[in-house]
Amino acid sequence: MIIDHLDEPLPGSSLRSTPPGDTYTDPEIFAQEQAAIFEKMWNCVLRADSLPSAGEWKKVTIGREEIIVVRTRRSGIAAYYNVCRHRGMRVCTTDQGRSKTLQCGYHAWTYALEGELVAAPNLTSMPDVDNKAYGLRPVHVREWLGYVWVCLADIPPDFDQAVLGEVRTSFGEVESIDNYGIENLACGETKTYDVQANWKLIIENFMECYHCATIHPELTEVIPEFADGLASQRENGEVHGAAFGSEIDGFTVDGSSGVSELPAIAPDQERKYYAITVRPQVFINTVPDHVILHRMFPVSESRTIVECDWLFLPEVVEQIRAGSLDVSKSVELFHRVNQQDFEACEQTQPSMSSKVYASGGALVPSEHHISEFHDWWYEALGWRAPKEARDEQATAAQASR
Ligand code: FES
Ligand SMILES: [Fe+2]
Repeated sequence: MIIDHLDEPLPGSSLRSTPPGDTYTDPEIFAQEQAAIFEKMWNCVLRADSLPSAGEWKKVTIGREEIIVVRTRRSGIAAYYNVCRHRGMRVCTTDQGRSKTLQCGYHAWTYALEGELVAAPNLTSMPDVDNKAYGLRPVHVREWLGYVWVCLADIPPDFDQAVLGEVRTSFGEVESIDNYGIENLACGETKTYDVQANWKLIIENFMECYHCATIHPELTEVIPEFADGLASQRENGEVHGAAFGSEIDGFTVDGSSGVSELPAIAPDQERKYYAITVRPQVFINTVPDHVILHRMFPVSESRTIVECDWLFLPEVVEQIRAGSLDVSKSVELFHRVNQQDFEACEQTQPSMSSKVYASGGALVPSEHHISEFHDWWYEALGWRAPKEARDEQATAAQASR
């Protein structure tokens, strides 16, 4: 639901092309995406408060690798490849757990929470084994917005540039997002969606509102400007939030009022919805009283797991847990939006392998900014971005006038 207004008329055609259909269906291209995008960039994997005490760990899958994320005793949260350094068995074989050490179930090599090898049968008779060198192989970890972000690259992209920079570009100033205090919010609800669609279809869907009038009746009721398909994040270079309708009291499924407003939001963030994509796998949606954050985990070329969190003030979540506050109307609005969007993506996925979609589809002007995502994607895979071809065509068209 992020749409940039066009600053100027488009040279040439109203329609821009999308990548070819097979880029959404080819397992080899998906493997290249895993290697070049998800295994190279920062991924937002889980909430830091879901590992509240030392020894708690969870498994996540990033690209083609399984990763253990664990709260250590001495150094906060760490993450390791779930690969035993002895002969490779999975060290953690369940999705989550709590333990004093991480012990492989095959020959009992045992690792400290900080990663080093601390015990193994007959280890004392092998004094030349370097416990650190044979520790679990770590991956890079950062915490931001209350989430754990991991990067599998040997040399990760600069977090401030790659992640905060992305937010800055989309949200105006990174400080604007600070007003929501996301790192201090608590999770009131999480829903997991197993979407039978390529991850790019989900991003493309999130980036446009051309479909809002057709498939999101509840959302367009709350935010009427979405009905024209042109609601925007940026208008004349300024960040633009989508305004609630005049009769609407809150971002809820029936427009009734929500819960306590986040205390530090700016006046221009009241009665407004903002949304950004943090490539490659995060969507952040903000409204005055809560934040909705999506994390995507591509499983295959035609399947993506999406985890969606609804974040509220901690005191609100306490009341939810105590049963004295009901936020189901707040949750239901975006849950329906998710279901509607993912169903559309699932109904699109099968056509990606149709012969009539072999050379791709079309983006109308209100979707042209999705080309920027496509250009980024081509570049990430080391392919020539069609933007260059478009620029050449536009220059040639102007020259021939
Ligand atoms: S494979 Fe893990 S201890 Fe042998
Ligand atoms: Fe949508």
